[in-house]
Amino acid sequence: LLRRVVQDQLIVPDFGLLAREIDATYEELRDERGGAVADYIPQLARTDPDSFGIAVCTVDGQRHLAGDARTMFCVQSVSKTVGYCLALEEHGIDGTHQHVGREPSGLGFNEVTFNQQGLPHNPMINAGAIISASLIRPGEPLSDRYEHVERTWQRLAGGRRPGFSNSVYLSERATADRNFALGYLMRERGAFPEGTDLREALEFYFQCCSVEVDADMLAMVAATFANGGICPLTGDRVFGPDTVQHCQSLMMSCGMYDFSGEFAFSIGLPAKSGVSGALMIVVPQVMGIAVWSPRLDSQGNTVRGIEFCKRLVERYVVHPH
Ligand code: DON
Repeated sequence: LLRRVVQDQLIVPDFGLLAREIDATYEELRDERGGAVADYIPQLARTDPDSFGIAVCTVDGQRHLAGDARTMFCVQSVSKTVGYCLALEEHGIDGTHQHVGREPSGLGFNEVTFNQQGLPHNPMINAGAIISASLIRPGEPLSDRYEHVERTWQRLAGGRRPGFSNSVYLSERATADRNFALGYLMRERGAFPEGTDLREALEFYFQCCSVEVDADMLAMVAATFANGGICPLTGDRVFGPDTVQHCQSLMMSCGMYDFSGEFAFSIGLPAKSGVSGALMIVVPQVMGIAVWSPRLDSQGNTVRGIEFCKRLVERYVVHPH
């Protein structure tokens, strides 16, 4: 980073200006009280609804934080990105996509719907993410598989170790009728890789959703994606460039639930939201951004997160097209 400062080659040369813009947007959105905290996972419903954190990290490692950017939250569906990347790295495109499609479903994230081959529509909805989980080091003990996921988050986040919310995990597992139903239907349709233990695949999926990070870490994860899979802070190559590219394509077409088409149209950036109010946004080749604000709109996306994105693209030309 220092060399780049000296040589005046920073990817965002006036980072101070960007930081001020982020702070100003944070202040503007602080009083926004629209939306409601997700309550279908009882433990999530207990989050402080007014929490609000923003973080950015550029591909050359400049960082800025605003608000509650150091408070841990569960990644929830944002884990679908990492799960899919791990499946791709291990099984390649064909090996992965013989179990899960890559078209938007045009429906909510937990809908009971499958494509014509009887597979989940894509890895960004629950059914598809359960498949991704089943593809991560199958056959190994669950403890090793979880450690692999945790270690990957750590490498993506510049070496900081993620947390784990056992209470959210237990709470989700106890109220997961829909995910169990999806699991049984997929087993009936032969979607899982051979030898999958359904109960284990579901538990592993819930555990992956209960990984905890803060906005600062999530911005670094997004920056690693923006940087083609190499963590800007450590230089560690976590994923291959193709893996990250494929994941970003699916984030663009399917990452924002049933708002994905509109989000791609108006914001034009790969992003993934989670019911905890987490939002990970990739500005390819430039930076990663994370917003965490638990109040969700009717489609399940963080209200302040979406508003933040709208204001970002109004102020900056980041739309790649
Ligand atoms: O499976 C669930 O319902 C949650 N663990 C994840 C939900 C979520 O964030 C929605 N995602 N697309």
